[in-house]
Amino acid sequence: MTKSLRSHRCGDINESLIDQTITVSGWAHRRRDHGGVIFIDLRDASGLLQVVVDPDAKDAFALADTVRNEHVLCVTARVRARPEGTINPDLPTGMVEVYATELTVLNRSEPIPFQLDEDDVSESVRLKYRYLDLRREKLQKIFRLRSGVTKYFRDFLEANEFVDIETPILTKSTPEGARDYLVPSRVHAGEFFALPQSPQIFKQLLMVAGFERYYQIARCFRDEDLRADRQPEFTQLDIETSFMSEDEIMDMMESMMRDLFKQKIGVDLPAEFPRMSYADAIEQYGIDRPDLRIPLTLISVTDLMKGVEFKVFANPANADDGRVAALRVPGGNSKLSRKEIDNYTDFVGNYGARGLAYIKVNDLSAGREGLQSPIVKNLPDDVLADVMQRVGAQDGDLVFFGADKAKVVNDSLAALRVKLGTDLQMIEQKWAPMWVVDFPMFEKDEGSGRWTSLHHPFTAPKADQVGQLESNPGSVLSRAYDMVLNGTELGGGSIRIHQTDVQAQAFKALGIDDEEAREKFGFLLDALKYGAPPHGGIAFGIDRIVAMMAEVDSIRDVIAFPKTQKASCLLTDAPSGVDKTQLRDLHIRLSPSAQAQQAAESD
Ligand code: AMO
Ligand code: AMP
Repeated sequence: MTKSLRSHRCGDINESLIDQTITVSGWAHRRRDHGGVIFIDLRDASGLLQVVVDPDAKDAFALADTVRNEHVLCVTARVRARPEGTINPDLPTGMVEVYATELTVLNRSEPIPFQLDEDDVSESVRLKYRYLDLRREKLQKIFRLRSGVTKYFRDFLEANEFVDIETPILTKSTPEGARDYLVPSRVHAGEFFALPQSPQIFKQLLMVAGFERYYQIARCFRDEDLRADRQPEFTQLDIETSFMSEDEIMDMMESMMRDLFKQKIGVDLPAEFPRMSYADAIEQYGIDRPDLRIPLTLISVTDLMKGVEFKVFANPANADDGRVAALRVPGGNSKLSRKEIDNYTDFVGNYGARGLAYIKVNDLSAGREGLQSPIVKNLPDDVLADVMQRVGAQDGDLVFFGADKAKVVNDSLAALRVKLGTDLQMIEQKWAPMWVVDFPMFEKDEGSGRWTSLHHPFTAPKADQVGQLESNPGSVLSRAYDMVLNGTELGGGSIRIHQTDVQAQAFKALGIDDEEAREKFGFLLDALKYGAPPHGGIAFGIDRIVAMMAEVDSIRDVIAFPKTQKASCLLTDAPSGVDKTQLRDLHIRLSPSAQAQQAAESD
């Protein structure tokens, strides 16, 4: 019979086992030589255990002398209480140690490129040796949390009659606003599969198929600009239901999230998530995913600036798509130096702002004399007084102004609001979930001037606005809802279009003619003809949820093998070139510039 490598896990050894002989296996986390006695902290998935090897155990001692960090060991040992003064209250096994009688080195490890408890290892090294990085306690905890989160979702949804169904990975383009990842077909020369940006169309087809409640923990692929909360492949908790209203879906999802946070991290989310219209979110926060923990809001002063001579404000105030807005920082006058204000001016420049006007409120009662600013000389007394009143200024405040196209003002002041909140430590210690609702169906693409979907083209319009789809698409609101937590969009969904004619009108508004609609989505349009039930759903970003729960800044920390900002994998070196024969089989020839780039990269 082969000898068992373990009778117990390291973390399970405690005082109840004193005097018993146990066998444990794991990694040498640390080895200390204490004048003749060798201590090894043995680590396995359950935790750390102190192994004592003394010279009396001859063979074991000789071997222990050769043990280095991260060697893999099997130890048979007797459990004993730690001597007085050596008890470690920080370690679950800190009351005991084990006295080795036998030791086997199961495998050796070369010196690892960084120590597991080292804090400032560069991310590129961590990603190249991700299997070592993942040995760290912090990451081990995160992936156990992640596993608990997906189990929780499955349990919740199964208990509520949802059916887990897989949808294809090799499929046709699913429009969610990003570029597709394409896979060439060998069998069909010149044709390509697209990897799904989401299972959107398939989950709708499953509603036509009569499942009524579907879910899937689904991998999605999007070729888009990457950020801390965006990866080219990521995981959605994807959900679709039939015969439920948006309120019913939102209520159910809210309670799922409340329970999750309570169960897994002991956080009480509010009993009711506030709902805010898209229009209000943009007006007050400049963005459709406001971080409600920051007590600053944008206040429009566009109307007050229409008649002033100061062109920087008057021009946008009189333009159709212009906005002049203020952001009051309570007590900001003494908190922000001239240099810091200059830095914020550069910061908003990243969002297209051409300047950042400000007024320091020294003494309100002194009128214009009490206001310190490069712009007060350009504004009449009554306008200054109205602005101060509207923003609720008090002595000691600093008021910033943005004036430009509304989009520039919104983008730049929204970012400034978050930056100020962080820099001035104004972020309240709480969890602030919310729903954003009443989105417009469409937005104008600046470049092409065409209408594009704010969500995706299958989102239903408000029932009483279907008639405006063709006549005035810009005015139509959709039945979409996004869940936002602390300024991050966790999930988004909607009630869908379930009638062929309404879907055709939505395509038309998007400039997709019948022929293109048929070619791209004919199968959906056909399916809608055969008794499609009213349906709607949502998808959550699991990576984002886990990152928030684990309180890490990037979703790369909650994905076992993530890609870099440049969409490559440092561990496997993917993507990489392929054989000429493989390319030939796939009917692909590389362009000269691609060949040159490839040659340069492989140097
Ligand atoms: P949406 O495009 O809003 O909706 O995606 C849903 C959620 O997925 C997460 N997410 C991402 N996470 C990491 N990296 C990315 N690149 C990335 N892109 C999106 C976000 C987002 O809220 N089919 C619709 C859902 C529906 O209507 O039911 C959809 O995919 O957390
Ligand atoms: P100027 O008249 O260009 O010297 O600008 C006077 C002040 O207005 C400076 O503080 C600028 O930073 C600010 N400013 C200029 N353009 C804008 C703008 N588009 N929005 C907000 N402030 C601006």
